[in-house]
Amino acid sequence: MTGFPAARPRRLRRTPAMRRLVAETSLSPSQLVLPMFVAEGAIEPRPITSMPGVVQHSRESLRKAAASAVEAGVGGLMLFGIPESKDAAGSGGVDPDGILNVPIADVVSEVGDATVVMSDLCLDEFSDHGHCGVLADDGSVDNDATLERYAAMALAQAAAGVHVVGPSGMMDGQVGVIREALDAAGRADVAILAYSAKYASAFYAPFREAVASALHGDRRAYQQDPANGREAIREVALDLSEGADMVMVKPALGFLDVLREVASVSDVPVGAYNVSGEYSMIEAAAAAGYLDREAAVLEVLTSIRRAGADIVLTYWAADVADWLSR
Ligand code: PBG
Repeated sequence: MTGFPAARPRRLRRTPAMRRLVAETSLSPSQLVLPMFVAEGAIEPRPITSMPGVVQHSRESLRKAAASAVEAGVGGLMLFGIPESKDAAGSGGVDPDGILNVPIADVVSEVGDATVVMSDLCLDEFSDHGHCGVLADDGSVDNDATLERYAAMALAQAAAGVHVVGPSGMMDGQVGVIREALDAAGRADVAILAYSAKYASAFYAPFREAVASALHGDRRAYQQDPANGREAIREVALDLSEGADMVMVKPALGFLDVLREVASVSDVPVGAYNVSGEYSMIEAAAAAGYLDREAAVLEVLTSIRRAGADIVLTYWAADVADWLSR
């Protein structure tokens, strides 16, 4: 080191103004998407025990909560429906009067083009077996039969006015089939947010309560093995070739390395889903007084952005929008 002045990186950390000037990563409400649940037959919001602070909305409370989230500045909304009755084919998902399609129309009429309205495109909330696709005789998930259902769901969601559909079932070829169906129906305007690298994760457990999932078993025959990183790049490349407008990695926190690599190869915006278990873990620790809720949430979301996410789906989107505007 002789001849050189001692390195002093702390000079750039001395004052809040200096730290703000040199911050590499920004966090803004416009980058956040709020996932929301709406339950058929609910007359008022129902708390979700495993996700303190998150509710299953009634149609009416969903409209109001959507309007206030948009008012707070969130970038978009992702809707999930919880039907009163489920069947093997997940028919509620394609029913124009079903509990995802009707609320899409409600929310679009409430907030219109002031935000981006997205919907989950998957069968698991609607199927009585809880899997993301229809089952073959041997009980396995039938990829190609499922694709036909997804195409029909996409058309129903588009008819309800959704801006973006989010296929989350990890069936091979799902993005291409949905794109073709939308284009053939004259709906080239509807975008696809592909859940490209979606892992079979223990961190979805609170969500399963949130949507009253009927699943017994697991999704390892279609969602990715957390052991695999390279495979995520292949999944993303396939989705891009099939016409994905945005790609996503899910969950976020255990997969920041995957997110970083996806961000480096994707030429479309990259999303990350900060999932239910990541939410509940911090909420539980904060409730116990083990950590500072707001500081922990902002650190986690900033880290997801730093790893390469342009867009973050998070149950904290509306809270963060409030905190950032103070
Ligand atoms: C599937 C879907 C799931 C989530 C979002 N879309 C559940 C699953 O794949 O088991 C999980 C989201 C979360 O845990 O917050 N429709």
